[in-house]
Amino acid sequence: MAIVVENLSYIYLKGSPFERKALDNVNLVINQGEFVGIIGHTGSGKSTLIQHFNGILKPTSGKVIVDGIDTSNKGLKELRKKVGIVFQYPEQQLFEETVYKDIAFGLKQLNQSEDEIDKKIRKVIKIVGLDEDILEKSPFELSGGQKRRVAIAGILVMEPSILVLDEPAAGLDPKGRNEIFGFLQKLYNQTKITIIIVSHNMEEVAKIVNRVIVINKGKIAMDGSPREVFSNVSALENIGLSAPQITYLMKKLKKKIPDLRDDIFTVEEAKREILRYLKGGAHD
Ligand SMILES: Nc1ncnc2c1ncn2[C@@H]1O[C@H](COP(=O)(O)OP(=O)(O)OP(=O)(O)O)[C@@H](O)[C@H]1O
Ligand SMILES: [Mg+2]
Repeated sequence: MAIVVENLSYIYLKGSPFERKALDNVNLVINQGEFVGIIGHTGSGKSTLIQHFNGILKPTSGKVIVDGIDTSNKGLKELRKKVGIVFQYPEQQLFEETVYKDIAFGLKQLNQSEDEIDKKIRKVIKIVGLDEDILEKSPFELSGGQKRRVAIAGILVMEPSILVLDEPAAGLDPKGRNEIFGFLQKLYNQTKITIIIVSHNMEEVAKIVNRVIVINKGKIAMDGSPREVFSNVSALENIGLSAPQITYLMKKLKKKIPDLRDDIFTVEEAKREILRYLKGGAHD
């Protein structure tokens, strides 16, 4: 299931004095099984772009084709099942009296049997790293991180082929953030479903995705592997973004130790590189 975006432009409030071009001629293909991070300044168009992936927003001009279906068409019920979108602060939409009922909500609309629903809920709660005891609790008794995971479980339980998450870790403490990124990484490794995350946090994106798309002022500014994108520090800085902190540290170290590699963007990788140097080893 691929997402094909062709010459996509989107204008909010078109024809009014408040007209605002949020996407400007975007071209993009995302293939099945990719793990993509979308980064960019506030207001650059990230949320506008992802809302085109299941037809919540329709192009002002251009096309978005998902799994062969043009999202400008009517009747996107099938597509909505295949593309699950988790919006920012999804826990604000929890409303049932138990976690179980909240996660079951979408499945109930699909008329699945109680047994089938029960199996899926017990499976998905493990995937998001929560205990089964939580199912009978009220969502309002949970911590922020737990609520977030319950809300994501409500989308995941629909078994989408493409999972899109808008700032999935926003507003959580470091432990909550790690938990979210931890299970997303595990989910990806185990299922190879397509995962697309919008994030402000370069470190987190660099650590888990295999492709980074940088959006600037409604256009795609960069698109490549984390290494390609984050090693191009000047291009990032030209649009007012920065590379992960560890990249800057390695560049500073390289000034003192020319033999060190500085195209590094995760702490793990930096550790390996420094150890290699200390042991006097050769480059990979
Ligand atoms: N409902 C709306 N009506 C009018 N303009 C909007 C609306 N939603 C977004 N915009 C404008 O469209 C542009 C792109 O917004 P968008 O929300 O896609 O950015 P974003 O990259 O997701 O930003 P953030 O990082 O703050 O979430 C911005 O200029 C924004 O002000
Ligand atoms: Mg946004």
